[in-house]
Amino acid sequence: MIRYTIISGSIRQNRNSHRVSLHLMERLNSEPNSKAELIDLAEANLPVMTDLWDKHPQHTEAFTKLANTLKNSDAFIWVSPEYNGSYTPALKNFIDHFPKQAFYRKPIGVVSVSTGALGGIRGAMNMQELALAVQGYALPQLLLVPEVTTKFDTAGSITDEAFNKQLNLFVTELIWISEAVKNKS
Ligand SMILES: Cc1cc2nc3c(=O)[nH]c(=O)nc-3n(C[C@H](O)[C@H](O)[C@H](O)COP(=O)(O)O)c2cc1C
Repeated sequence: MIRYTIISGSIRQNRNSHRVSLHLMERLNSEPNSKAELIDLAEANLPVMTDLWDKHPQHTEAFTKLANTLKNSDAFIWVSPEYNGSYTPALKNFIDHFPKQAFYRKPIGVVSVSTGALGGIRGAMNMQELALAVQGYALPQLLLVPEVTTKFDTAGSITDEAFNKQLNLFVTELIWISEAVKNKS
């Protein structure tokens, strides 16, 4: 069983990218040998990072739960909208709270989302760099989601069937590397 954790990186009110996180969770849970859960950064409501999570004087219970989820994950999907050419500050703040060990030798697929036509390739590439910085295996196959509101409804159901092609490519590649890494260890 491969345990995937999807990190939903927008904490904006009325966010759009969360739709993609919901969809990917359902999609992975429909695959054999896969179990996906979601860390919703809006729900996590983390303070700005001042030190690693285990040195934070408050939020111990919530941080411990998040740290355990990361530890028990075999692979990740980071979903973020592109904000000014990069990923969200909320995603970086979350990652920085935890030691690199949480991501070490784990596949990380990155998904960039925008309401515009381009899908946020700069955000995606910056996320790949961040994945490498925490010593994860950045998945070469990106998932870019342009014009997200035409592709998914708020519950995460796909509304543009043609987009399944890109989703399939991304999910296939992520499952391939995740199984390869898991079988190695
Ligand atoms: C602060 C900010 C910066 C943005 N910068 C970009 C950008 O660089 N490229 C882009 O394609 N869209 C950009 N957008 C538009 C987002 O794609 C759009 O608002 C999207 O819905 C954001 O995702 P979210 O709703 O999940 O927060 C930006 C939006 C915000 C709020």
